[in-house]
Amino acid sequence: MTTHDCDHIHPDDPNAEEVVRISCVRHTYEDGTSVHLCGLDFLAHRGKRVAVLGPNGAGKTTMLYHILGLLKPQEGAVSVFGVSPSEEWASIRRRVGVVLQNVDEQIISPTVGDDVAFSPRQYGLPESEVRERVDRALGLLGIEELADRVPHNLSGGEKRKVALAGALVMDPELLVLDEPFEGLDPKSRQSLLDLLERLARERCMTVVLSTHDIDTVPEFADFAYVLAPGGTIALRGTPEEVFANAHVLAQGNIKPPILAELFSRLRQRDPSAPATALTVDEAADALDAWRRC
Ligand SMILES: Nc1ncnc2c1ncn2[C@@H]1O[C@H](COP(=O)(O)OP(=O)(O)O)[C@@H](O)[C@H]1O
Ligand SMILES: [Mg+2]
Repeated sequence: MTTHDCDHIHPDDPNAEEVVRISCVRHTYEDGTSVHLCGLDFLAHRGKRVAVLGPNGAGKTTMLYHILGLLKPQEGAVSVFGVSPSEEWASIRRRVGVVLQNVDEQIISPTVGDDVAFSPRQYGLPESEVRERVDRALGLLGIEELADRVPHNLSGGEKRKVALAGALVMDPELLVLDEPFEGLDPKSRQSLLDLLERLARERCMTVVLSTHDIDTVPEFADFAYVLAPGGTIALRGTPEEVFANAHVLAQGNIKPPILAELFSRLRQRDPSAPATALTVDEAADALDAWRRC
């Protein structure tokens, strides 16, 4: 595997390779519910992990469906690898891995091994390569022992890992995950975060992930977008930048991360308390330094 350096890429860098762009897309569902993904453009650059954050019903899934060409923009534009996904999905689908929110709809084969083998077989790869790819993908998720199991009988978290193995089996350049932490226990959640970090760093894989769990964002994201109800893209930035905008989060009905709340309370009691820490390690370091001075 080649190691690339994706760390220098910033979304405002004109030379950064744009993988996804969504500009002012509107979708009105049949019952008249309208989602307007406007305000700021949504951008995901090569090798970056981008979180789409918002309360239930804000429009996260609607946004991801546009990236995957499952919905066609009624207004505005979507570009993935430079093409419109709803019109030219065939030309990009091999470069994109997907795990939808409801993994049951995605797992269709009689065994886990067959399910993960589905895409490489569809692409007509030789059976030896199919097996090699399946073993590698199951290994990435640490679920080799599930290969012969019947997917229907697995737990929710196990099914999610199987779906992820299926999404990774073709080595996608873009991975799209809708609420991927649902049903995962803390250890599995941490391994998924570690895996996504590794994939972005080592393979320059772009990851776009939706979540309503704000505490995941500092651990996961290089950049976060905040959707307010109705789909408005209210905020974008690094986790630090996003969490500095407590009032925008509040307008979007998003509770700030627990550490941001803790440090804000500490500063109310004692203005010399440190600025917000984003991770538990940062918090421990900041509090330790504060205690010493
Ligand atoms: N198939 C559908 N028909 C009608 N309304 C829908 C449909 N899918 C989603 N919606 C509505 O669109 C809005 C955005 O939904 P969604 O994109 O699923 O939000 P999120 O993923 O952030 O929870 C919500 O008001 C939701 O009720
Ligand atoms: Mg959703």
